Amino acid sequence: VLEAAVVAAPALVRRPEPAPQRGGGAAGLAHHGDRELAPGLVDLAVNVRHRRPPAWLARRLTEGADGWAAYPDAGPARAALARRHGVPQAAVLPTAGAAEAFSLLAQALPGRRPLVVHPQFTEPELALRAAGRLPERLILNAENGFRLDPHRVPAEADLVLVGSPTNPTGVLHPRATLEALRAPGRVLVVDEAFLDAVPGGEAHSLLGGDLDGVLVLRSLTKTWGLAGIRAGYAVGDPTLVAALAARQPPWSVSTPALTAMVATSAPGPLAEAEAGARALAAARTRLVDGLVGLGLRPVPGAAPFVLVEVGTGVRELLRERGWAVRRAETFPGLTDAWVRIAVRDDSTSEAFLAALASCLPGHPGAASAPVPSLSI
Ligand SMILES: Cc1ncc(COP(=O)(O)O)c(C=O)c1O
Repeated sequence: VLEAAVVAAPALVRRPEPAPQRGGGAAGLAHHGDRELAPGLVDLAVNVRHRRPPAWLARRLTEGADGWAAYPDAGPARAALARRHGVPQAAVLPTAGAAEAFSLLAQALPGRRPLVVHPQFTEPELALRAAGRLPERLILNAENGFRLDPHRVPAEADLVLVGSPTNPTGVLHPRATLEALRAPGRVLVVDEAFLDAVPGGEAHSLLGGDLDGVLVLRSLTKTWGLAGIRAGYAVGDPTLVAALAARQPPWSVSTPALTAMVATSAPGPLAEAEAGARALAAARTRLVDGLVGLGLRPVPGAAPFVLVEVGTGVRELLRERGWAVRRAETFPGLTDAWVRIAVRDDSTSEAFLAALASCLPGHPGAASAPVPSLSI
């Protein structure tokens, strides 16, 4: 189910770094994994699972081309997603990726004291800032595996944003922890963009119970290789969903994105996603074991990526050896000693682990590592 990321052995070439964007300022927050890429680098920085959508899905999208002259109708997608999650249609809003939902909720949701649980995906904080709302940050600690103690969220926080499983830590917060974050007068937003990459993920979702004061975000772009199509949705309290819908530009979700929502909500594709999630989890375990074998302590988690502290400068060495991993210092709460590694197929992970061994200071592999012949 997992595709090989390595087509040919990566070349040993020094490539220009993208402009450094550090710290928790707005510039650093705008850094994303795709900025780590350059021609010839093996991509372990971006978390999109497939290099292209599955053939059946691509066919389904393009077969709909006859309908592209018409303005999009979100109705069938809304109905399909509502059926999938067992909620009324008024509880669902298709969006142009989860990213659009961040921007809509930052403008539409009430809350005088927004709070973002970090480290997490930075777009929610950026969207709040763009809407003129500077959120508080609750920074979780590496020492306890970035787990969330709900008691650390101040009672006054009336708009709380958390990710599960969290990008970049990979931590899947227990459902009970998320439930404990709910409070009268508070809106809780849970970014579940990566939950479909977790085997049996729905059991960990806040969906499935009552949705009062809750908004859950989902994405189709990672599991289905559709980042360029922009497909996601919000599910939750119909009052909150209506507030987002009122801010959404007309026809902002394209017809192919809506087609993808209908297509992937059917039982067959849901089973396909689940099988993919199981394969990913197994590949993740092997990558984690390999990292532990190198003396590292990857953060315990469940996600299609792994966060691990490798030491300052190691990411740059990996880059010289042809490997792009996601830098971490642009996430509030992390430093340049950490990297986020996408889970790929086993042969890619094995090749990566060998390269990483050669980059770690004092590791036996370092001595025997081939000296890269650098070309500029
Ligand atoms: C945690 C998280 N949430 C949401 C998104 C945005 O997803 P989409 O492509 O659906 O806009 C991303 C993209 O990287 C992400 O990492």
